Amino acid sequence: MWRILRDSFPHPYGITDANRWIDSLASENPRYNFAIDVEGAIVGGIGLKPGQDIERYSAELGYWLGRAYWNRGIATAAVRLLCDYAFERLDLQRIFAVPISWNAASSRVLNKAGFHPEGTLGNACFKDGCFFGHGDVRSDSRGFGGIVRRQRRAFMGAHARLEGRARRRSSLTQPVD
Ligand SMILES: CC(C)(COP(=O)(O)OP(=O)(O)OC[C@H]1O[C@@H](n2cnc3c(N)ncnc32)[C@H](O)[C@@H]1OP(=O)(O)O)[C@@H](O)C(=O)NCCC(=O)NCCS
Repeated sequence: MWRILRDSFPHPYGITDANRWIDSLASENPRYNFAIDVEGAIVGGIGLKPGQDIERYSAELGYWLGRAYWNRGIATAAVRLLCDYAFERLDLQRIFAVPISWNAASSRVLNKAGFHPEGTLGNACFKDGCFFGHGDVRSDSRGFGGIVRRQRRAFMGAHARLEGRARRRSSLTQPVD
């Protein structure tokens, strides 16, 4: 599994790594990372990595599941739940995932969870001595149109007010770009 994940996911993965990860999340607020629980057993993890600066309304989704639990629809259910939570509770416009080119199971999970294909990123990754691409970049920008239209109206309103003030203060009569 480590071949599919980022280098920040330790390999080999020991109990110390697990404890360090759990401790690092103790003060996380709001919550971006969750355990996947099946009948009381923790069988995997799922989380969002929020962007920064101008990408701060966007977050990257990642997930993994213990092999014994694969192909039962668990990851798809977890992705749907996390996206519902994120769009409802976190101030996000877009959630995206970048499965590597040969991770067909992950692409299938995203497809089933309603993510839209956006393209590929050739040779974007270097892992285990090889370059390979993010083969199936997908995103869920639920409610995108409505939210953007509302934000755009608010932004244009503020822009018009500022522009009006600027015009009153300056001798310029024509708006400048
Ligand atoms: C990717 C992963 C989370 C999927 O978890 P999961 O609970 O098995 O996923 P689901 O059961 O919800 O769906 C898997 C789908 O992929 C399909 N699939 C599995 N292996 C496949 C393969 N080699 N090629 C094509 N499709 C495959 C399954 O048939 C299923 O689709 P279906 O419901 O139409 O039959 C799990 O395989 C995993 O932990 N992999 C390693 C970590 C990883 O890849 N994380 C994602 C990084 S972006």
